[in-house]
Amino acid sequence: MTGWWRIITKTPDKLQVSFATELPPGARAIAASSAVAEDLLAKIGEHDFKNEPEQVLPILTDGGWRVLVGFGDLAKLDTACLRRIGGQIFAELKDVGITRLGLQLDLAPAQLAQLIYGMRLRAWRPAAHYRQRPDDEKVWHLKQIIGLTDAPGAAAACFERLDKIADAVHFARDLVVAPANYLTPKSFLDLVGEIKGVSLEVVDPVKAGLHLLQAVGQGSAFPPALAILHYQGGGKAAPLALVGKGITFDTGGIDIKPRLHLEEMKGDMGGAAAVAGALMALAARRAPVNVVGLLAIAENMVSGCAMRPGDVVKGFAGQTVEIIDTDAEGRLVLADALAYAAARFKPSVMIDLATLTGAVEITLGFERAGLFTADDRLASSLFAAGEAEDEKLWRLPLTDRYDDALASPIADLRNCTWERGPDALHAARFLQHFVPEQVPWAHLDIAGLSEAQEDGPLAAEGPTGFGVRLLDRLVSDLYESAP
Ligand code: BES
Ligand code: ZN
Ligand code: ZN
Repeated sequence: MTGWWRIITKTPDKLQVSFATELPPGARAIAASSAVAEDLLAKIGEHDFKNEPEQVLPILTDGGWRVLVGFGDLAKLDTACLRRIGGQIFAELKDVGITRLGLQLDLAPAQLAQLIYGMRLRAWRPAAHYRQRPDDEKVWHLKQIIGLTDAPGAAAACFERLDKIADAVHFARDLVVAPANYLTPKSFLDLVGEIKGVSLEVVDPVKAGLHLLQAVGQGSAFPPALAILHYQGGGKAAPLALVGKGITFDTGGIDIKPRLHLEEMKGDMGGAAAVAGALMALAARRAPVNVVGLLAIAENMVSGCAMRPGDVVKGFAGQTVEIIDTDAEGRLVLADALAYAAARFKPSVMIDLATLTGAVEITLGFERAGLFTADDRLASSLFAAGEAEDEKLWRLPLTDRYDDALASPIADLRNCTWERGPDALHAARFLQHFVPEQVPWAHLDIAGLSEAQEDGPLAAEGPTGFGVRLLDRLVSDLYESAP
């Protein structure tokens, strides 16, 4: 790929991390023993440092910068909390002038690795090449972290895996932030084709009978495609299938969206980005599993050859769909991708991720993604993975109660209703019609989570990479934990 629009996904400002027993010359230290903290607090007099978890207080002393980090009750510190503390430390210290930072904390090696992982997750910004001059707000000096521990080997071994997952989370963010003239269906395919350890197969929707995917993409100058990412790490076992909505831009189609914040629809491929990121992480850490990632890639445009409201389209599964609203396109592309994945790969489990509905934001806000499944065990595994990774889910109803809303006077189904109603639930039920009953399947509506409205501990405002950590954790819980 050449040209000024090339997407750079390997950011040169990656935080360098190492572990050592002693601080190399030139690195500033954080001292965290309570004795040191108390001494400093006594010196500064009035303060609001309450040693609460995630509280970070930088202090400029005559000996240089000292930073107090609140840990609260050490016994209550879980992994998610350590990461959040790390993320907050990064946010506080990234631009105070420190380049190399030593961390001397009363933590076990694995805990130290988790805390630094939180720093790495937070240390992401859009690639510099989208602007001529750097954004002052997003310039940071902090480049290198040295974790001080008696067991640097153990900490480094633990961090090695986390570092790969952080790379994959950042890759997903790079994809979501990329403008739609950079990330076209074509360049999306090129980029996911570069993921190491994963092979890419591109399926032509017309040849494969994926007419719903074709219909959504037919108005664009770039042809739609089903990208299949194959990762083979688990012998002959049936694969886990991960399916992602990859609409590189959602204008709404002929039912065009209002113009306010329409630019945000460049991120309507957050589900596909999460799936691509998950495969990148699993391949990089050589997870002992078989996974197929299916990205339903299309651009939903307004044009003379765009699909129309009222069109009836027969999808891969054979059912016909009356397109009521061309803006309810995500469920169309996913219906084909899910049906295709189930028929071809006979997966042991199938999970789709999609920025599917505005309605889920109204239902759950920006704290949790919608989880829909008929399988209670899959629901609890996903819920637990979400809690552990701070990528939280909440289960919502998936029932045939909504079939009336999806009944069409002319076709087998319609893609949505004009009645006021729970559209996120209708969309999930719509998808269920395309998944064979025997396949354990879950649908995650991540519309409110793929991009953050405000700064959080592990991601600043902007793309979050939501789903990468969740899927990686799910795989390790389901397939890698000791019996
Ligand atoms: N991509 C949108 C959903 C979305 C909205 C994602 C806001 C992220 C933020 C989806 O394709 C869509 O437009 N859904 C419609 C469905 C409606 C026409 C039934 C919606 O939510 O309005
Ligand atoms: Zn739409
Ligand atoms: Zn959409």
